[in-house]
Amino acid sequence: SDNLWYEGIPFPKKDYNPEILRKVQEEFVIKDEDVLIITFPKSGTNWLIEILCLIYSKGDTKWIQSVPIWERSPWIESEPGFAFANDREGPRLLSSHLPIHLFPKSFFSSKAKVIYVIRNPKDIIVSGYFFWNSVHFVKKPKSMEQYLEWFLEGNVPYGSWFDHVRAWMSMRERENFLMLSYEELKRDTEGNIEKICQFLGKKVEPEELNLILKNSSFQAMRENKMSNFSILDDTYIVHKNPLLRKGVTGDWKNYFTVAQAEAFDKLFQEKMADLPQELFPWE
Ligand code: A3P
Repeated sequence: SDNLWYEGIPFPKKDYNPEILRKVQEEFVIKDEDVLIITFPKSGTNWLIEILCLIYSKGDTKWIQSVPIWERSPWIESEPGFAFANDREGPRLLSSHLPIHLFPKSFFSSKAKVIYVIRNPKDIIVSGYFFWNSVHFVKKPKSMEQYLEWFLEGNVPYGSWFDHVRAWMSMRERENFLMLSYEELKRDTEGNIEKICQFLGKKVEPEELNLILKNSSFQAMRENKMSNFSILDDTYIVHKNPLLRKGVTGDWKNYFTVAQAEAFDKLFQEKMADLPQELFPWE
């Protein structure tokens, strides 16, 4: 299977089409009270969704255990997500992987809150290699080496990681924009949940915070069939449980050769040297 190409960006073939992608950009109305989770795929999107759902429910698991994660926070650019999002009353929790230049135009004059999550691109490559090989409707790499090559060319779902991150990061001084990293979220989950609550203007009690932590853990999500993608039927997935793979930082060390890592780091320096390096909290 190949990808769907739209405006020079590859997308998965199922659930995406040019008409919806155009409509999302031109017609989708982002409302001031919306909260958006935006990421390049494999950066920890679903972890953030689970945390936000639990913040909204004060740690209670009823919602996260009864509604599939993609319905709780619809992917606005996919066909089913677009329909879910349009039907929903506010305040909406929404997700997107869109690069900023294809994002709904209405966003730029709204007060909607955005949480943008970044992750070490070397870990995104490893995570993406396994994930895209576990689902249908995307072009399949034959090896990690080939996937790395495609990633560097921007020939993977949602295009160039470098362009995505650079463009979205340019919003970082905005009041309604919170940038988080997978690495910091792993290192200090509790502190970052508190940061998110503050950003959303939500007060949580210490015992609620404990429930949020416990119920959004890797293990809890892995066991929650509404969050681990296992209820997707086999028109979507090749292997059961494609999402909650390892949930660690630095797994790239098990897959990159020394030469690949050095070449990647060199390219990273070339492409991102002008940005403050403290924005990238990983090794
Ligand atoms: P790995 O493949 O490295 O394990 P996304 O949701 O953007 O597709 O990202 C998926 C990645 O986030 C996967 O990484 C997955 O294991 C990880 N992840 C999901 N939930 C997590 C959690 N609760 N804690 C830690 N990592 C999590």
